[in-house]
Amino acid sequence: MEAQDKPPIITVDGPGGVGKGTVSRILAARLGWHLLDSGALYRLVGLSALKRGIALDDEAAVAGLAIRLDAEFTGNSGDNTVIMLDHVDVSDEIRTEGVGNAASRVAVLPAVRQALLERQRRFRLPPGLVADGRDMGTVVFPDARLKVFLRASREERAARRYKQLKDKGIDVSLDALLREIEERDLRDSSRRVAPMRPAEGAVIIDTTHMGIDEVVDGILRAWKERVA
Ligand code: C5P
Repeated sequence: MEAQDKPPIITVDGPGGVGKGTVSRILAARLGWHLLDSGALYRLVGLSALKRGIALDDEAAVAGLAIRLDAEFTGNSGDNTVIMLDHVDVSDEIRTEGVGNAASRVAVLPAVRQALLERQRRFRLPPGLVADGRDMGTVVFPDARLKVFLRASREERAARRYKQLKDKGIDVSLDALLREIEERDLRDSSRRVAPMRPAEGAVIIDTTHMGIDEVVDGILRAWKERVA
């Protein structure tokens, strides 16, 4: 149970391409709460390692980067959050498939996850927090009052990602995206530390045939029932 003296939390976990990011952003805006995009932290660590030429499996070196990570999020929970790494705007760069892959490789390292744990918990500020990730409900905020786990078929997630990239003018093949999603799912759900899975008591929503607003409304309804 959530400690009553701490700001409330809604955790939104699930695999990539499921709509978590968009849903969490709208949810935070509707509630007037803070937003934690934990995937962005893993992406920043991955990008930082790539930039410095540090091997993505060098646990001690990558964990060192995670501990010293000089990251800043401004315009939190808005549509145009600016993400700075070492005082450089990397908002677009961290969304590339290459950085996403680097993120999921450094995310298997226990020392890296440990290094990011406290940093993530510092986002818990009044009046509340929407936390988006893979292990928000299971590891980072196990006392969250409402835990949500979003699912969608791999084909649908690949199609959504394809459209997102196309809209940005980035050319990719749907097949390649599907393969990457499969690889990343496998890595995220089979890792030793904090594997991706629904938290106990999580509300599980299959978004394959749902629009964003429908998902957000469902979560808000569940939240109102929880606090009623
Ligand atoms: O959600 P996003 O695609 O930005 O996350 C990038 C990668 O970071 C994921 O594939 C996953 O491996 C890792 N991650 C994680 N735990 C989180 C959030 C992200 O392991 N809470």
